[in-house]
Amino acid sequence: MIRFNKPTITDLEEKYIIDSLRNGIHSGDGKYTKRVYELFYERFGIENMLLTTSGTDALEMASILADLVPGDEVITPSFTFSSTVNAFLLRGAKPVFCDIREDTFNIDENKIEELITDNTKAIYTVDYAGIPCEMDAINEIARKYDLVVIEDAAQAVGSTYKGRYAGTLSEYGCFSFHETKNFSMGEGGAIIVNLDEQMDRAEIIREKGTNRRQVLKGLVDKYTWHDIGSSFLPSDLLAAMLTAQMERYDEIFAKRMLVWNTYHAGLSELEQAGLLRLPIIPDYVEHNAHMYNILLPTDEIRSQLIDELKEKGVIAYICYVPLHSSPYGLSLGNKPEDCPVTEKIGHTALRLPLYADMTEEDALYVVKSINEILTQ
Ligand SMILES: Cc1ncc(COP(=O)(O)O)c(C=O)c1O
Repeated sequence: MIRFNKPTITDLEEKYIIDSLRNGIHSGDGKYTKRVYELFYERFGIENMLLTTSGTDALEMASILADLVPGDEVITPSFTFSSTVNAFLLRGAKPVFCDIREDTFNIDENKIEELITDNTKAIYTVDYAGIPCEMDAINEIARKYDLVVIEDAAQAVGSTYKGRYAGTLSEYGCFSFHETKNFSMGEGGAIIVNLDEQMDRAEIIREKGTNRRQVLKGLVDKYTWHDIGSSFLPSDLLAAMLTAQMERYDEIFAKRMLVWNTYHAGLSELEQAGLLRLPIIPDYVEHNAHMYNILLPTDEIRSQLIDELKEKGVIAYICYVPLHSSPYGLSLGNKPEDCPVTEKIGHTALRLPLYADMTEEDALYVVKSINEILTQ
């Protein structure tokens, strides 16, 4: 059986978690949280990073930092996870769904401007499958209309756009360290505050609206309530797990890339025969091998492939049910035809198993199985 996802755990994760349990502090911002920040700084040059209890929470923090209020409109793709949109719906802002590009499945930067109104306040981009969006164009539109850009880089840790790392490409970047992501702490995430002047406020929002972190830094001797906020701070026990994963960065990256490249080479003949389409990576992007998805000609062929792969012991899933045509999206007044490309891709994209401990043989077995099914 080739599962869809499986966490990669070694003695190192165990060692750090046990050390944290026995010798560390169990609440947040202990030595492992600090070590995670060092590792992100050393590898990606990322500063102003705050670990959160999930990618969802990082997005919610960004919505508070962006001062979104009821009546604001936010432009976002609908080909994403509910958290991208819930984050600003919770502040009373309204989603305005923008269609996606056929090649990357990311927000179509050429369709954003026509959706801007006097109420538009922000653009939430999503680096789908770890592929950053066309951020120069998006940031330029944002500058022109004075909008905030929040990058949902939940899937994109380690990817680059024109040599710059995902998460650093706009005012705020949000990562996920959920079990299904490249680097996991079980449940967790981080916000990257790329506006230095917002960092103090971000620390307060993450600590239930208090300046507790300034006490920990020795800057003040007692803390008090300064702003709205929530309990967005994860336990140092979880940061211990993430420390191990980030120290294993090169190994995890190489293993995932091997599977990705095995799929890409092995399925190319089927693409040439017109039976499916492989992922398209723009030349300005270095991706992080987060996901491998194929596009099938029809919904029916996709369903049949999922069923027959399952019979062969391979678990593959659809990508997203688009948010604009989901039950809640429809109840907000959206219509399926609002985003035709999203609808088409939502019905025909298929995500193959991909995790670090999958072997090349596993990937070749998936390739062989897809070949057999589609050419029978
Ligand atoms: C694009 C996107 N945004 C947000 C999230 C939410 O992250 P988390 O599960 O860490 O809350 C995820 C992952 O599940 C995601 O894929």
